[in-house]
Amino acid sequence: MQFEVLAKCPTTQARVSRMKLAHGVTLLPTFMPVATQAAIKGLTPQQVEALGINLILNNTYHLNLRPGIQVLKEAGGAHKFQGWKHNLLTDSGGFQLVSLNKFTKITEEGALFESPFDGKPTMLTPEESISIQHAIGADIIMQLDDVGRAIPAFLPDLDSLWKAVSSLTVGPRVGEAMWRTIRWLDRCIEAHEKSCRTDIQNLFAIVQGGLDPQLRDQCLDEMIRRKDRIAGYAIGGLSGGEAKDVFWRIIKQCADKLPSDRPRYSMGIGFAEDLLVCVALGVDMADCVFPTRTARFGVALTFSGPVNLRLSKHQADMAPIDETCPCPTCASRTSRAFLHHNVTLETATAHAITQHNLVFQARLMGQARDAIINGTFPDYLRSFFATYFGNNG
Ligand code: GUN
Ligand code: ZN
Repeated sequence: MQFEVLAKCPTTQARVSRMKLAHGVTLLPTFMPVATQAAIKGLTPQQVEALGINLILNNTYHLNLRPGIQVLKEAGGAHKFQGWKHNLLTDSGGFQLVSLNKFTKITEEGALFESPFDGKPTMLTPEESISIQHAIGADIIMQLDDVGRAIPAFLPDLDSLWKAVSSLTVGPRVGEAMWRTIRWLDRCIEAHEKSCRTDIQNLFAIVQGGLDPQLRDQCLDEMIRRKDRIAGYAIGGLSGGEAKDVFWRIIKQCADKLPSDRPRYSMGIGFAEDLLVCVALGVDMADCVFPTRTARFGVALTFSGPVNLRLSKHQADMAPIDETCPCPTCASRTSRAFLHHNVTLETATAHAITQHNLVFQARLMGQARDAIINGTFPDYLRSFFATYFGNNG
């Protein structure tokens, strides 16, 4: 990978960089849409490309289950399998295992789970995650990490639910998961360097440590020591809806310490306000299912805040979602009234809103890049927040 910082904001940590991967150049900061099953729900890869998007995310866990590694190998990798010519990042699978599979058990060897097909115990080790990601052939691959979450499948009452949820972010399990993540990083590095794919596939480490600043600091020290063997750094363990000030403090602590000549990726972040704060703190990349998922529930993202098109106030509104938006939905002046009318009936409406929302995320990040380059990023932040929270359309 070639990574070059092009411009820096003098008063915040925001920066614009150029990341050159095997499938092209991506300008950072950028938002990466999630194509869990090698497809952004409702869109073809050609439609995604036409929106100007050139870096998307696939999930190792899902692709390994279906279509499976054999099919991906025969296809010549996930790019060819899905007809996507641009950059691709794969998450390692552990996070999805823990969030989707209630019987997942983390051991030192790897993540042990029940196969959703035949119920057989199946193990995902760091070596195997890397080997699957090699078969997928993504431009950026992620280490297998222990996200430290283990919500029991059955919780008898609210009190035990609360205890389980708080153990996600503080307590002994967080430290254990952080240290295991470092040991798994070493196994991932070894497996990756054996493969002779290091020139085309780039391995990222994932900083864990929950909401504990001391654990985060120890994790940062360990991972930064391995910098020569790591192409970039992700900040993990933060997509659980924690209080904003706590979440931002951890992002700041990590971004401040991470080496400036490596891209920084905050995982699972997708609200516009969070994206801009992360950018101001020095984050370069983010991903989230939020913009695509919320579109399927009839919510369009705008610079005046999210608009719920299912509300009856849009019944006779002939305006497009956003007069200034260049997306196919707004450019063709598809009315809010039409989207409202069809929102629960027609999948085409979900596709139309999905395209708009992806263009919204791309414009948000594109405007941030322009403002950083022009030296107006603090003004951009001020006017964004005034409009976004000022009047809700
Ligand atoms: N997606 C959101 N958060 C995380 C995380 O902590 N680890 C991984 N692997 N993926 C994530
Ligand atoms: Zn639009």
